[in-house]
Amino acid sequence: MRTLIVGFGRSGAGLHLPVLRRLRAEAGAADHWSPEPPLVWDVRDVRQEAAAAGLAAAGSLEEAAATADPARTVVHVCTPPMERPHVLEQLADLGFTRLLVEKPLAADTASLEAVDALARKRGLILRVISPWLSSELTGALRRLAGGPRLGALRSLAFRQLKPRWTRSLNGPGHPTVFDVELPHSVGVALRLAGDAQPVRAAWEDLRLGGRTVPRMGRGHLELRHENGTTSEFFTDLTAPVRERSVVMRCATGEVTGHYPVSEADHHAQWTVREGAGAARRSVVHDEALATFLRDAYRDFAEGRTTARGADDYAIGRRVVEILQEAKSLAEASPTARVPDPGERPAEPVDLSKGAAHDV
Ligand SMILES: NC(=O)c1ccc[n+]([C@@H]2O[C@H](COP(=O)([O-])OP(=O)(O)OC[C@H]3O[C@@H](n4cnc5c(N)ncnc54)[C@H](O)[C@@H]3O)[C@@H](O)[C@H]2O)c1
Repeated sequence: MRTLIVGFGRSGAGLHLPVLRRLRAEAGAADHWSPEPPLVWDVRDVRQEAAAAGLAAAGSLEEAAATADPARTVVHVCTPPMERPHVLEQLADLGFTRLLVEKPLAADTASLEAVDALARKRGLILRVISPWLSSELTGALRRLAGGPRLGALRSLAFRQLKPRWTRSLNGPGHPTVFDVELPHSVGVALRLAGDAQPVRAAWEDLRLGGRTVPRMGRGHLELRHENGTTSEFFTDLTAPVRERSVVMRCATGEVTGHYPVSEADHHAQWTVREGAGAARRSVVHDEALATFLRDAYRDFAEGRTTARGADDYAIGRRVVEILQEAKSLAEASPTARVPDPGERPAEPVDLSKGAAHDV
């Protein structure tokens, strides 16, 4: 399969391209990757950036379709979420049907309906890029939740912190703080605990030196799942540090997990505490975007119209609906405060049994 990257920004150039390079380099002759390098299309003139990366940039989407046969090309849609329906329609018009769409799948439910209708009408196979669903940490949480060691799942608490001052001050892209990090964690909560409804939501503006970026500071969301589990999400795009963590509480124990915070290091770690027993820490290589892309290309190449066991589209769809309801809740209560989650006590970790254990 050939690759067309649409949107050569942070995600397309910075995240997808290096992973694609490595996957192609590792692939054997029997693998599904085309020998031609990825092709790039962006509304900006990215010819120099593409050339520096050893790639060709198309002068238009039409030229891209003439260069990369839509019947054997996978398109990575790495444009900002506001653009989704328009970009997908342009691609469908040119005959592209195998599409990997960055999260969030759409910026609101009206756009989501438009994307859904387009996919049905034009036979698009849409996958939502959902690295956290392919993550080793999420897999471990799934095996542990409701299992014999920890018992029934009771609650999930996610913290997603990163300094994102420059990008937020430099213009739109994401309409609210809920659209940046929460699509990852809300998807994991749905995977672990099933469907849910928002019960509380609040956000704050990002402010610096007299400048204000509405709704792009800190955010807080609570969900109640149909099975009684509660999920809480705290995100802060003004934080001085990065963190992507989750605490999963079960009837007889709990897990504290940390997803990799960036592409700088691909290791996840988690600590399991069963009752009064010693904490056990696991550290694993967790390159979730690579896992997701490898599986998606295999599914496409093998001609599957629905991905084997993959629920990323259904989850990505539901995430947009839940976040839209959360935005309505936050909008309806402008004085609602984002609670300060405070510092969690440091995890006492027993490393005496070795550096890594399997769950
Ligand atoms: N930045 C991250 O770390 C990150 C991580 C995961 C997912 N994402 C997601 O990826 C998507 C893109 O985010 P980003 O951070 O890469 O944004 P970005 O602004 O860095 O890059 C987006 C690129 O898309 C181009 N573009 C805009 N409209 C276009 C169109 N109609 N056709 C072709 N190109 C177009 C822009 O010129 C820009 O180069 C978002 O949905 C975001 O949530 C970003």
